Amino acid sequence: MTTTPASLPPPRPSRRNLHPNLRRNRPPLPAGALALLLAATGLAPAAQAGDTSAAAQLQRWSAEAGAPGQAERGRLFFTRTHGGEWSCASCHGNPPTGEGRHAATAKTIAPLAPAANPRAFTDGARTDKWFRRNCKDVLSRECSPQEKADVLAYLVALPVRP
Ligand code: HEC
Repeated sequence: MTTTPASLPPPRPSRRNLHPNLRRNRPPLPAGALALLLAATGLAPAAQAGDTSAAAQLQRWSAEAGAPGQAERGRLFFTRTHGGEWSCASCHGNPPTGEGRHAATAKTIAPLAPAANPRAFTDGARTDKWFRRNCKDVLSRECSPQEKADVLAYLVALPVRP
């Protein structure tokens, strides 16, 4: 049931012709991707400052878990192996208030405890990335919000090693 006169060109081909023209006039990258690039190269000053804190991340995961993080449970989680070869402490040390040493590459790792490392847990995307990666290495799965809250509760309570 079309009311379009047979003499008019069908709408689809003309739309298709317009599209490449519009795309040619666009900047090569969407603004979001450009901002990410700037952040990655360190050109965006805001990206260099931390966007969060250990306390804020503890709060976030406790809220997600629906229960506050427990430091003692976090300590046990951090120091035991979970059926695999490594614990969190294998690379981060026990307690993680000093420099860690990567169990596979022997590379030095900055202290994980915020009291010993002011940069620890100040970049949310960085924390998420390493939690994902390290939990997969140690537990063969991602850590739950409760496990992350427990680990954070443990870490923020650690004093600097005397
Ligand atoms: C095989 C070595 C290894 C193991 C095992 C490991 N980590 Fe890590 N972890 C690292 C490295 C390397 C970094 C990055 C350090 C850096 O760049 O300063 C890191 C960073 C992190 C960070 C980011 C900290 C921040 O400032 O945001 C978190 C969180 C973390 N690890 C948690 C864990 C937890 C929890 C476990 C145990 C489930 C664990 N890690 C086990 C090597 C390891």
